[in-house]
Amino acid sequence: MLKSVIKGTGSFLPLRVMTNKEFEETINTTDEWIFSRTGIKQRHIASDAEKSLESVANMAANAGKMAIDNSGLSVDDIDLIIVATTTPEKTFPATAVIAQSILGVKQGAAFDIQAVCAGFVFALSVADCMIKAGGIKNALVIGVDKMSSIVDWSDRSSCVLFGDGAGAVVLSAAASGNAGLIGFDLNSDGNFKDILFTDGGVSSTGNSGKLVMTGKEVFKHAIEKMSNSFITLLEKTGITSAEIDWLVPHQANERIIDSLAEKLSFPIEKVIKTVSMHANTSAASIPLALHSAISSGTITSGDLVASAAIGGGLSWGSCIFRM
Ligand code: ACO
Repeated sequence: MLKSVIKGTGSFLPLRVMTNKEFEETINTTDEWIFSRTGIKQRHIASDAEKSLESVANMAANAGKMAIDNSGLSVDDIDLIIVATTTPEKTFPATAVIAQSILGVKQGAAFDIQAVCAGFVFALSVADCMIKAGGIKNALVIGVDKMSSIVDWSDRSSCVLFGDGAGAVVLSAAASGNAGLIGFDLNSDGNFKDILFTDGGVSSTGNSGKLVMTGKEVFKHAIEKMSNSFITLLEKTGITSAEIDWLVPHQANERIIDSLAEKLSFPIEKVIKTVSMHANTSAASIPLALHSAISSGTITSGDLVASAAIGGGLSWGSCIFRM
């Protein structure tokens, strides 16, 4: 039976680093408050300059190029591009199509997926299904977001939480071997659409709107829903928590990550954390953290890895794969 294997990973972070201290000049906050409530020290912020190399499509293409290079493949081998994003370059065409042209990929399909901070796990699942169906050999799956374009910079309870960036994986069809995606658990519940949303949209207000969040509610649901999804997936796959070598959770807030590990009785030293350096990069957070852990030699070939994510919708889910 065909399965899909992560062959290479990549990432891109904008040049500009914005520290917590910088917020002290514009809103009523402190570095100490932000760090103690979130574990965040800094975030990267993409440049707004015209045709910037740090546009969403360029960030996606840069991360994608690195993932293709690291997989040992070339752009001619990629027959599917899926981009998970909440902050697309344009209303249309899809950011995946713009990234496809930047990368010089001339074959296959390219489209976007929108599940906010859970987008990468959803996109990975779609690519996995398409590979297993037999039509796709090498999929490029990218999570990218420029959250700085939709945060309300005057809302101190949310603007300090987010950053910009991109992460990518190349997923290839394989007929043998131990590596590969093992299972997914995906969920959405639109009844929670009003606790995390933007107050606009191209077909309603004519603009993207700004992010609005009920922080305490999101905090509570994040821990409950990611842990439930993780447990459901263990039951579905027959894998035990003790067998998981690494947990790469969505990087929203260190307190959420620590509480998740505690609720699951999962050893915190086996949890990958990049939130202090990247903040919450939405759809990019998991592939950024995964690439960072692989580049540093923390996650290595043969490791069993689990991810769990949650985002606006609410939409949430988890996946398990062997590297
Ligand atoms: N600086 C200083 N004070 C602040 C700030 C700030 N940046 N933001 C809020 N405060 C104040 C509040 O106004 C409040 O003041 P008050 O008591 O006078 O009313 C006080 O701090 C406490 O606010 P709380 O909301 O109770 O603070 P809490 O401990 O809940 O932390 C936080 C807030 C960090 C937003 C937390 O609720 C959280 O992390 N929620 C999850 C949100 C999240 O991660 N969203 C990401 C998107 S979804 C996802 O990716 C999962």
